[in-house]
Amino acid sequence: MHSDIARAVRPHSMDGSSPSAPVWDPHQYLRHAGHRTRPFLDLLTRISELPTRPARIADLGCGPGNVTALLADRWPEAHITGFDLSPEMLRLADAEHAGPTPGGGHLDFRHGDIAEWMPEETYDLIVSNAALQWVPSHPGSFASWINGLRPGGTFAFQIPGNFTAPSHRLLAELCDTPRWRERLGGHGARYIHILEPAEYLARFTELGCAVDVWETTYYQMLQGPDPVLDWVKGTALRPVLTVLGDDRDSADRFLAEYREALRLAYPGGPRGTVFPFRRIFAIARKEA
Ligand SMILES: C[S@@+](CC[C@H](N)C(=O)[O-])C[C@H]1O[C@@H](n2cnc3c(N)ncnc32)[C@H](O)[C@@H]1O
Repeated sequence: MHSDIARAVRPHSMDGSSPSAPVWDPHQYLRHAGHRTRPFLDLLTRISELPTRPARIADLGCGPGNVTALLADRWPEAHITGFDLSPEMLRLADAEHAGPTPGGGHLDFRHGDIAEWMPEETYDLIVSNAALQWVPSHPGSFASWINGLRPGGTFAFQIPGNFTAPSHRLLAELCDTPRWRERLGGHGARYIHILEPAEYLARFTELGCAVDVWETTYYQMLQGPDPVLDWVKGTALRPVLTVLGDDRDSADRFLAEYREALRLAYPGGPRGTVFPFRRIFAIARKEA
C-alpha cells in the first residue's frame, strides 16, 4: 500500500534501483543533536514497562549512539545493542558509548542492515529513531520484528514525515535539473517511502498489537547562517555529498544553488530561522 507521501515523491534513482549507501558524517549530524533528540525523548515517554528485567533491547539505525545511550537511562540494567550500516557512525558510537552502563547493564554496537535484520534472539524492545525512512522495505519486516518480541514486548519508532517540505522538495528539484541529473548519476537524491500514520496503525493492528500512533510538527528555531542547509548536510544531503565525493568544485556549486533556494524558503528572522519538521511516531505492543 502506498501513502500519499510515497506517491508524491518519485524515486530519484534513474534506473529504478536503490541509491548506493551514503557516507555519513557523525559530527555534522550531531551539530543539531538537541532538536534531533527531542522526538526520541517524546517517544520514550509513551513506551510502557518492558516484560523482563534486565531487558534486552535493539536499536535499529543507531547512528552515533547518543540516542541509544538514552535507553540505558530509562532501563539501566538492560543489555542494549545498536545496529547500523555506517562504519563512521559505528566508530563514534563504539568510542563514546559502548561498555557497561552505570545501572549494571551493557551497551554494544554492531554492523547490521535494517533491510535484512531479523531478531536473532528474543527482545523486550525493538526501537528505531529517524532511520526507517532510509529503508523502503521496512513495513515488510514488521511481522518478523513483532514475532521476535517477548509477549508484552514493544516495537517503537519515530520517522520523519517531512518529505514534501520545501527542504526536501527543493533538493529533489535541484537534483533533477539537466545540469545535475547526469552528474549525480540518478543517485543524488534518495528513494523515499514512508507510510502515513493511519497506515502504520492499520499494519500493527492487523498484527494483533495494541497500537499508539501520532504525529507532531516541531517548529524548530535554528541558529546561525544558513541553518537549514547545515541541518540537511547531516541527513538528506548525504547521498549527494557522497556522489560528489572529492569533487570539491561540483560540491561547492551544488551547495551554492541549494543554499540560495533554501534562503528564500526559510528566511532568517531576528531570533533565528524557523524550520518546521513533521515527525511520525508509532508504538506497537505485543499481546502479553
Ligand atoms: C538520521 S540517522 C539517525 C541515527 C540515530 N538513530 C539517531 O536518532 O540519532 C540515520 C541512521 O540510519 C542508518 N541507516 C540508514 N540505512 C540503514 C540500514 N539499511 N541499515 C542500518 N542502518 C541504516 C544510518 O547509517 C544512520 O546512522
